[in-house]
Amino acid sequence: MRIIIADGYEEMSNKAAAIVRSQVVLKPDCVLGMATGDTPRGMYKELIKMYENKEVDFSEVSVFNLDEYCTLSRENEHSYYYYMNHNFFRYINVKKGNTFIPNGTAEDIEEECRNYELQIKNRGGIDLQVLGIGANGHIGFNEPDINFEAETHLVELDETTIEYNSRFFSSKDEVPTTAISMGIKTIMQSRMLLLLANGESKADAIYKAVKGKICPEVPASIIQLHPNATIIIEKNAAKLLR
Ligand code: GLP
Repeated sequence: MRIIIADGYEEMSNKAAAIVRSQVVLKPDCVLGMATGDTPRGMYKELIKMYENKEVDFSEVSVFNLDEYCTLSRENEHSYYYYMNHNFFRYINVKKGNTFIPNGTAEDIEEECRNYELQIKNRGGIDLQVLGIGANGHIGFNEPDINFEAETHLVELDETTIEYNSRFFSSKDEVPTTAISMGIKTIMQSRMLLLLANGESKADAIYKAVKGKICPEVPASIIQLHPNATIIIEKNAAKLLR
């Protein structure tokens, strides 16, 4: 596991964007796994700049997102479908047919999960998976549990996650209580992982993920077992590591 401590949010974002760009330069038809939340916003902005400066071309790239809320339509501004289109896809030349986000309003969620796994396999698997981390140690929406969920699955969101994510909604009651998330095996099968963490609220989760016991109560701790994982930690999120 490579650990890079960044001096600030901008440095974290720029380094992350540089790694994503390298992946696309090395393999123009690569499969990227992407994350939502506040953490990767700066990375997306930087990648858009790189695209505008013709430093990266997404025309052959496929993108799979980690997770999506159940019950929110794709037009809902809180859906991750909306987030990805508004913060990234509409500014770059990725083909719509090459972007994949679980459909949280599918009639048969289990079938949707199986199909999502199949689509990832059909594209040859994920080359580079970007991850954020929840303050409770979640990755994607894999919440702390007594076992690791392997593949894409339906999740009951933790009370703490609902509370934390309520900042994006007008009230806590509007936050969906369930979601679809790639599983731990799906994430671990990516050929490279890039985890980003920013701010003091992530310090405890980062400490446990990096130095703690590998256990499903801290889902992010599993990345200690990944053969090619890089973590870029902004200095406040790294404060317990020193
Ligand atoms: C959310 C998402 C995760 C994200 C994490 C951290 O609930 N499901 O994919 O990485 O929580 O979010 P943020 O970057 O806003 O702190």
